[in-house]
Amino acid sequence: MPKTRIGLEVGTRNIKAVEISGREGNYKLEKIATAEVPPLEEKSVERERVTVGAIRNLIREHKLNAKNVISCVGGEGVIVRRIRMPMMGEKEVGQAIRWEAEEYLPFPIDQVNLGFQILERNLRGEAGAEEMAVLIVGAKKELIQKHLRILEFSNVFPQIIDVSALALFNAYQVSYPGELTGVALIELGHTTSSIVILHNGLPLLVRNIDLGGYQITTALATEFNTNFINAEKLKREYGIVGGGEIPEGKDRETAERVDKVIRGAMDDLVGEIVRSFEYYSSQAERTSVEKVMLSGGTARIQNMDSFLSEELGVPVEVINPFRNIHCDPKTFQPTYLAEVGPLFTVSVGLALRELPQL
Ligand SMILES: Nc1ncnc2c1ncn2[C@@H]1O[C@H](COP(=O)(O)OP(=O)(O)O)[C@@H](O)[C@H]1O
Ligand SMILES: [Mg+2]
Repeated sequence: MPKTRIGLEVGTRNIKAVEISGREGNYKLEKIATAEVPPLEEKSVERERVTVGAIRNLIREHKLNAKNVISCVGGEGVIVRRIRMPMMGEKEVGQAIRWEAEEYLPFPIDQVNLGFQILERNLRGEAGAEEMAVLIVGAKKELIQKHLRILEFSNVFPQIIDVSALALFNAYQVSYPGELTGVALIELGHTTSSIVILHNGLPLLVRNIDLGGYQITTALATEFNTNFINAEKLKREYGIVGGGEIPEGKDRETAERVDKVIRGAMDDLVGEIVRSFEYYSSQAERTSVEKVMLSGGTARIQNMDSFLSEELGVPVEVINPFRNIHCDPKTFQPTYLAEVGPLFTVSVGLALRELPQL
């Protein structure tokens, strides 16, 4: 049996697992699996209990090897900042970022787990001194503890807890090598979304925003005076009207109403994306975002790509995270993979995470 790794994303709406074997340049998809998480309306204790049950089922049903799991946290409780520091050794960075973190993270330092990744060395600083670029990662302790508790009750003991936005970056790097400047990776989930803007192959900006498909569904539930389940159906069936064309068999009035609500519910998120793009232009001389690669469950809303392209003024392409992974067409129907690709992008990035050599 080849050694495999499992990327497991426990979202607020869906649990996603991907099992991949092989090494760089020779990856193979072994399994993909997904299960629903109970709606947010339920009490949190109950949600945790049901989530644990769903993870256990998923593992049992798909015979996933729970030993080789890499999982992640995300949302606004996780802050990622790229900073410049004087050149120093790896060990010293670990100490120095505690000071830097106080300045860059909006949470008290004793409430976060800190991590870092050195992105670039030997950069020329303003005064001519050599500097390096470091990614500081601060995740709220309570967020990580809660996540570990859920995994532990599910009998999953992950090798690493990564950050969903960085897993997104990882998935993109493997799937689209070479396209690395002025590209914005946007992942639209249920209650969280992330933006990663790449410059010279590295993340220049990483932002987590607590907005997503949940806001769209609740806006539809209010407009149509219906419950969450029916509202989600409307969202999936109608989506955004593209080019003024109502798909055959769909009621025009309903289609236009749904379209208007979805566009309205996307307002805040689009505003945040625009601000991130502006920040990028202000940091990266003479460059701006030229392309968006879209992923996440909410990217599956019909015409979400063309809507965002209009709003942001750049081409938007939906990511195919399986692009450079061998997927046996006998086991995985290509049309199915293309359809669910956006949903599995983060879990693919987790499964492809380079593990420290033991
Ligand atoms: N086919 C689809 N059409 C419209 N929305 C979808 C579709 N599939 C999933 N979604 C929406 O995507 C969101 C879940 O995306 P996901 O990336 O799994 O989020 P999370 O990781 O937070 O659980 C939900 O809001 C869901 O309604
Ligand atoms: Mg997610």
